Amino acid sequence: MRKLAAILIITLWHAGISGSSAQQPASIWDGIYSDAQAERGAAAYSARCASCHAVDLRGNSNAPGLLGVGFMFLWEGRSVGELFTKLRTEMPSDQPGSLPAQTYMDILSFILRSNQFPSSEKELTAGADWLNSVLITPK
Ligand code: HEC
Repeated sequence: MRKLAAILIITLWHAGISGSSAQQPASIWDGIYSDAQAERGAAAYSARCASCHAVDLRGNSNAPGLLGVGFMFLWEGRSVGELFTKLRTEMPSDQPGSLPAQTYMDILSFILRSNQFPSSEKELTAGADWLNSVLITPK
């Protein structure tokens, strides 16, 4: 009986660990968004962001680029959650906060994919507070 209880406890403990790691990827390099989501984000980006940041995300004289070295210069060491908050509260700069939260997540996925961060099966969902602990780091 005692042995059974011990097995049960170990099983639950394991389930707890794997359950939470499925919810909380340790790193941006584990893949935190899905390809389908980045595709939706690309469409929303074209409609609402490309007029300032350019279709290829390289920016222009009015708005900064969101790619590569310039992007990492601003965002390296900061969290994905912070980037999400920036988008949701300040962009598009002519109509801040005008998109549904999930659309900002899709656009965020598109920006991550454009910067060569990997995808996975998981979707980024709005309100995921673990995003604040996932840092934007170079490979
Ligand atoms: C009307 C022009 C305009 C539109 C539309 C616009 N932005 Fe911006 N964006 C700016 C300007 C100007 C800045 C620089 C000032 C600042 O950081 O707030 C900026 C800054 C940013 C930054 C931070 C700078 C960086 O390099 O990381 C991000 C990220 C961003 N925009 C994403 C978006 C996204 C996503 C959209 C669409 C939802 C969008 N922007 C739409 C003008 C615009």
